[in-house]
Amino acid sequence: MKKLQFVLIPAIILVVGGVVFSFVFQDKHVAKGRHLFDRYCTPCHGSSGQGNGYNAKNLDPHARDLTDKSEQYMVKLTNQEIYEVIEKGGRGVDLAPIMPSWGKHFSEEEIWSLVAYIRTLHKYKGEPVKFDKDKPYQTTRARTPPVQETEFVTLVASKVPDDDVRQEMIDKGKETFEDFGCIACHRIKGKGGELGPDLSRAGFMLQPQFIYRWVRNPLSFKPHTRMPNLDLPDEAALAVTLYLSTLKGPPPDGVQQGGQGKDAAQGASTDPGHRQS
Ligand code: HEC
Ligand code: HEC
Repeated sequence: MKKLQFVLIPAIILVVGGVVFSFVFQDKHVAKGRHLFDRYCTPCHGSSGQGNGYNAKNLDPHARDLTDKSEQYMVKLTNQEIYEVIEKGGRGVDLAPIMPSWGKHFSEEEIWSLVAYIRTLHKYKGEPVKFDKDKPYQTTRARTPPVQETEFVTLVASKVPDDDVRQEMIDKGKETFEDFGCIACHRIKGKGGELGPDLSRAGFMLQPQFIYRWVRNPLSFKPHTRMPNLDLPDEAALAVTLYLSTLKGPPPDGVQQGGQGKDAAQGASTDPGHRQS
């Protein structure tokens, strides 16, 4: 018995020490990737990447299970392929548009950090993500200047000459809402996701010029918003703005309107354009 203890105790110290050691000195990019993933991706992909976040039930197809629990899928993708789907979104790589694009939201280094973290979620023995000192990744987020109110006014004047055209654009805007995956996060008349606020009453709650400017560049209002800049061309943004402005649904039963996101933009209509923080 004594002898066994001599072996066991050091073994336990080694194992526990090893776990603590690797935890403390965990690769800093993996740690950064995990941090971003926790905030931006878990609502759909779940806290351990299994595709079971609180917003997952609203998604068709399902958010991919990144752990390969049921099938060997992620392990077959290259690092570059994973990078690209995060950068360009499902829409950019022939997958469902409800996987958002993050290329206008995160820096190159942040996206590679996400790839490095995702690699820890399934069994992967291939090439690790390299953060080479010779070829450093761009580490700062692209800062696009806020969209000016005049841009919206000018666009309406030039693109919406009459009511027939307006109606066409509204119809197009309804499609845009699905084609760009807005529906993954926003609910309209009981259909869609719950990551962002319910937009069934956007026509009452939000000013068109605010919607347009927000959709074109959410980060210029709120640097840490969970809504990515989906890189909408100006006409698509105009169409979706006109569509949302027609939505004047009945008041919700509860007092609280909006998504489960902690920082869902409550009261944006009363304070549009003053949210630069
Ligand atoms: C609004 C929900 C939603 C959010 C938020 C989201 N995803 Fe996804 N993601 C999806 C859906 C849905 C799919 C599956 C798309 C398909 O199979 O057509 C997917 C697929 C993926 C895939 C697999 C791609 C492939 O080739 O099959 C990766 C990797 C991924 N997401 C990473 C991320 C990362 C990283 C984030 C956070 C920065 C994120 N996702 C945020 C919904 C989401
Ligand atoms: C990945 C999820 C996600 C996607 C995709 C998304 N949004 Fe959002 N959206 C949010 C969140 C979260 C907020 C709350 C913003 C905040 O306060 O940070 C928001 C806020 C908004 C607002 C402001 C609402 C208010 O009450 O202030 C509008 C308008 C909006 N989104 C429209 C759109 C449109 C149009 C699209 C598609 C082009 C879209 N969103 C795609 C998550 C998303």
